[in-house]
Amino acid sequence: MSVIKENNNQRDKWASKLGFILAAAGSAVGLGNLWKFPYSVGNNGGGAFVMIYFIFLILIGFPLMLAAITLGRKTQLSAVGAYRSVKKNWAFVGGLGVLCGFFILAFYSTVGGWVIYYFAKSLMGGLSIQEPEVLGSIFTDFISSPKESILYQGVFLLLTLMIVLKGISGGIEKASKIMMPSLFVMIILISIRSVTLPGASEGLEFFLVPDFQKIDMSVVMNALGQVFFSLSIGMGVMVTYGSYLDRETNLLGPSMYIPMLDTAVAIIAGLATLPAVFALGFKASSGPGLMFVTLPAVFASMPFGKLFCFIFFMLVLFAALTSSISMLEVCVSYFVDEKGANRRSASIIIAAIIYVVGMPASLSMGPWSDLHILGSLNFFDFYDKLTSNILLTSGGLLLSIFVGWIWGADNAIAEIESDGVKFVLAPVWKLLIKFVVPPAVFIVLLNSISELIRAISG
Ligand code: TRP
Repeated sequence: MSVIKENNNQRDKWASKLGFILAAAGSAVGLGNLWKFPYSVGNNGGGAFVMIYFIFLILIGFPLMLAAITLGRKTQLSAVGAYRSVKKNWAFVGGLGVLCGFFILAFYSTVGGWVIYYFAKSLMGGLSIQEPEVLGSIFTDFISSPKESILYQGVFLLLTLMIVLKGISGGIEKASKIMMPSLFVMIILISIRSVTLPGASEGLEFFLVPDFQKIDMSVVMNALGQVFFSLSIGMGVMVTYGSYLDRETNLLGPSMYIPMLDTAVAIIAGLATLPAVFALGFKASSGPGLMFVTLPAVFASMPFGKLFCFIFFMLVLFAALTSSISMLEVCVSYFVDEKGANRRSASIIIAAIIYVVGMPASLSMGPWSDLHILGSLNFFDFYDKLTSNILLTSGGLLLSIFVGWIWGADNAIAEIESDGVKFVLAPVWKLLIKFVVPPAVFIVLLNSISELIRAISG
């Protein structure tokens, strides 16, 4: 599996189907599942958010995942080239993805830095504390210290850069085979502990039972944004990964089980976090810090808690890195493929620029928390909303129009069936990709844009 290597004459292929699945699942499963999903549920009314997430996943997430991978395999090109080769003036969609990867990584690296800090701290046993207040202040003290949070953000970006420079064919693929399943087992154990804490049932109810009163437009916008973010869809990552597949590989399997696996991780992360939030007296709406304050308290109530705690943060770090490399890679391969840049220098320069652009996101948690650059949004929130609710959503909309109408759903179906499989659900997929996904995403996107405009003018 050597996606990350330069391929001049002959295009690299995945060494194995498993290599592709691991890289695509590695990109999808990350902080979006473990950190963002639980706190978004907490901020957006609990079960209602989860329900809408599921509806969007089925009607929009699955069809788009298949569309992206199919477009990639057909054209054998990464995002910009893939769009261009079918229709010249659509190359900009790939460019949009590059921009998006850039801004996601700018704030993703802030949280990646938190994970490194927590990993280091738990290694030294500094986290085996059960009192919510103490855990809360450890977190706030850390994120509000500008020097520390920027330092750890830099370490996270440096790790990402080193992996992208080395290519992921070496250690990462092997490590994935152990780390990802371990992470899965680990969050299952944590969730068992969490749901069996005395008083957990309130949290379970909050998480699983939708309260329809709580559904409003912002819940809907955030749920759609979360689907795109969590599946790594809408900025060309999956197009690029699909382009390394050969003709014999069945496309239907992976586009089913990558979203399923991704969602399973998110749901289990929710089960690990939210019941404990209620049982231990945290607040569900405490925002981005939710995982970092709640889970150490859960570990403290478990046998071998200290050990669990640092193994857990190590695995989270690994999952975050397999996602962050996919974002940096999209930016780097654009400048290498399209602008003829040297791979090494492009990687270093882009990572450095992302670091600079990302620093305000770290500072937003401390000294700059009240520096509102747009309405009530500070830098961190702005990068988050800009990418999830606007850029990824636009990328998803354009992808569906492109595959459904420009390239044509029938051509895509022919490509899917070219390896000899029968795509039984083809008529359903065609209906969704042409007539359901574009208008649904468009309506949500319009609302996000009008919210942004209101924030600017208000
Ligand atoms: N899906 C990743 C997560 O859940 C984040 C991510 C990686 C991503 N690559 C992406 C999101 C590309 C959108 C597009 O953490």
